[in-house]
Amino acid sequence: MLPELRTPIPGPASRALAERLRAHESHNVTYLSDGFPVFWERAAGTNVWDADGNRFLDLTGAFAVASLGHSNPALVEALAGQASTLLHGMGDVHPSEAKVRLCERLSELTFERWGAGTGKTVLGCSGFEAVEAALKTAHLASGRTGVVTFENSYHGTGYGTLAAGAMPRFRTPFARQLAEIGEVLPFGNAGLDPLRSTLSRGETGAVLVEPVLGRGGKTVPEPDFLPSLRSLCDEFGAVLIADEIYTGLNRTGRLFACEHWGVAPDIICLGKALTGGFPLSACVGRAPLMDAWPVSDGEAIHTSTFLGHPAGCAMALAALEQHADPEVAAGVAATGERLRAALSGLDAPGAGDVRGLGLMLGLELSGDVDSGALAAAALGAGIIVLADGPGGGVLAFAPPFGISDEEIRFTAGWLQEYLTSLFGSSS
Ligand SMILES: Cc1ncc(COP(=O)(O)O)c(C=O)c1O
Repeated sequence: MLPELRTPIPGPASRALAERLRAHESHNVTYLSDGFPVFWERAAGTNVWDADGNRFLDLTGAFAVASLGHSNPALVEALAGQASTLLHGMGDVHPSEAKVRLCERLSELTFERWGAGTGKTVLGCSGFEAVEAALKTAHLASGRTGVVTFENSYHGTGYGTLAAGAMPRFRTPFARQLAEIGEVLPFGNAGLDPLRSTLSRGETGAVLVEPVLGRGGKTVPEPDFLPSLRSLCDEFGAVLIADEIYTGLNRTGRLFACEHWGVAPDIICLGKALTGGFPLSACVGRAPLMDAWPVSDGEAIHTSTFLGHPAGCAMALAALEQHADPEVAAGVAATGERLRAALSGLDAPGAGDVRGLGLMLGLELSGDVDSGALAAAALGAGIIVLADGPGGGVLAFAPPFGISDEEIRFTAGWLQEYLTSLFGSSS
């Protein structure tokens, strides 16, 4: 549904909540300004309602989590059903059946589907935990410490992911505490020659890659990039880790983005849309590789209190049931084409190329468009959208898959009007 605003944005209730938060939350966490944020009260489908009763159109999918729609009824039902019977298990001691079924299902949908044997899983809560479990696996399996990542990648903010290589903004403040294990190479084919020479030194155990850059600006690599990573990893015995926390589960119009290039990684990391709204992530790897971990002797060497949370597992199973339907991927591809066409059709000087895949798209903004001001203006018009990419120069689109043609037209219409009001028409 289109936005319906009852107050100026942010309204009085949101402003009052912001003041209270300012007093009691670390001031690095929530960005508080005149135009930001609105406080969310409820959400359904593509819409979010704030504390003032305003209805917004969400083009972010709430960080690409709400792919199947906010408060997807089947996911809510799975959560409620699980919560009413078993709200917490003992993840690595006395787990729930839901954890068993989720590990089986993840294997079926990844390595078994790819004809690459079975998969074994380490579950986590946040996405970065899945990446860190993958990095630990690669270290145990290869005996090597080195990790290669790529420029403008984002793998989360844990110390392990920062050590592997992260955008300077996240890494630099903590750099003195981080082991020097990472090497950051150009993303795309420009990174292949340097990768070959790094791998040939024999110190690299893991090559960690987002098949399409998410927060880094929705950049799609050249068609031979992923296949070349696969063959270089095979040649030099490094573990290929696909971080599909953003791209996974149909976001790019395929169940997993690496399938666009016919590449099966050694490990795939999932999170975000895996549950559609519960903090649960998964590191799924080829069984022989995952067996590099020692058998538990009663004390796991990698665990956490909420590992394999039954509510998260139940939601993930419900989400995977929907994602496994090939019509979901086809629908995302078709809707993505319509959104791409609408954005490509913008006739305004600030609007550049459209990039990305499926419903993971980015509109390049010319240097003279302040993307923060654009996001605030959009919010004021009832549209929730964020910018990403280097310097925030890309307007990011990762809406719930159910975004309608009317909502797409509305979005493009608003952008056209806003950019024209900044610069005038390009014609
Ligand atoms: C590709 C990718 N990897 C890892 C992460 C980190 O996930 P989380 O924020 O759940 O730790 C993100 C989050 O945006 C991501 O996009």
